[in-house]
Amino acid sequence: MNDMRLTERTVDATDIKISARKVQVFYGTTHAIKDVDVDILDKTVTAFIGPSGCGKSTFLRCINRMNDTIDICRVEGDILLDGEDIYNKKVDPVQLRARVGMVFQKPNPFPKSIYDNVAYGPKIHGLVKNKAELDEVVESALRKAALWNEVKDRLDAPGTGLSGGQQQRLCIARAVATSPEVLLMDEPCSALDPIATAQVEELIDELRENFSVVIVTHSMQQAARVSQRTAFFHLGNLVEFGETGQIFTNPRDPRTESYITGRIG
Ligand SMILES: Nc1ncnc2c1ncn2[C@@H]1O[C@H](COP(=O)(O)OP(=O)(O)OP(=O)(O)O)[C@@H](O)[C@H]1O
Ligand SMILES: [Mg+2]
Repeated sequence: MNDMRLTERTVDATDIKISARKVQVFYGTTHAIKDVDVDILDKTVTAFIGPSGCGKSTFLRCINRMNDTIDICRVEGDILLDGEDIYNKKVDPVQLRARVGMVFQKPNPFPKSIYDNVAYGPKIHGLVKNKAELDEVVESALRKAALWNEVKDRLDAPGTGLSGGQQQRLCIARAVATSPEVLLMDEPCSALDPIATAQVEELIDELRENFSVVIVTHSMQQAARVSQRTAFFHLGNLVEFGETGQIFTNPRDPRTESYITGRIG
């Protein structure tokens, strides 16, 4: 797990997976994200923290264009993935979302079987050659999401028939099944018990070996445990962004300090 004594390392451009510049988000006249600049590093877990309504989910949804699906939402500024503008007209949002996967706060399994929930992405993106390969991908994704043992004997049962925490792990399996380069997780553990939470945190740590993970969390302990870098949002502004140990032990902005010590939130 994360070593809090890690010193801030220098960042060279090749480490940068996602680069956001001057990002603004509006819902009608509500200005939800104000002029945010952020670099998200490859092979790193980045935590987004901040009080309710500060814009964490909104900003997360910018990174895989999920805000496109909200009619009144308007996004301005630049977001680059490996140096390429994800808002370019040539980018297909469906393809983008296979590369930049997402797990939502509320589990949203498809009205399909457990197996088909996980198999769906690899199938539509042509990631497997045959049924045997697909079976392997499904099992491996369910194992990563710490769900395999609970569902291996009922893969044909509907995903919506699982408990809330199991549904959330199913959605995590669905997201990792396409081997996304970036995984966005919006409070992925809020419906999970401590055991499943620990398993998901372990998965996040594993994913970091190959991918970039961004996690929104209301738990400072979780942010400290799983992330190497932390961004603190407040009223639509990115107030402070740095190495996780520094943010939690030596915040530079008084608003960050108030939040992490429990004075605002
Ligand atoms: N679909 C929407 N339509 C209109 N306004 C929205 C919508 N989604 C979010 N907002 C507004 O944008 C602002 C940021 O909301 P957002 O959901 O991003 O906050 P958050 O930091 O994720 O909060 P929480 O911790 O409660 O999940 C809030 O003022 C919210 O009311
Ligand atoms: Mg949110």
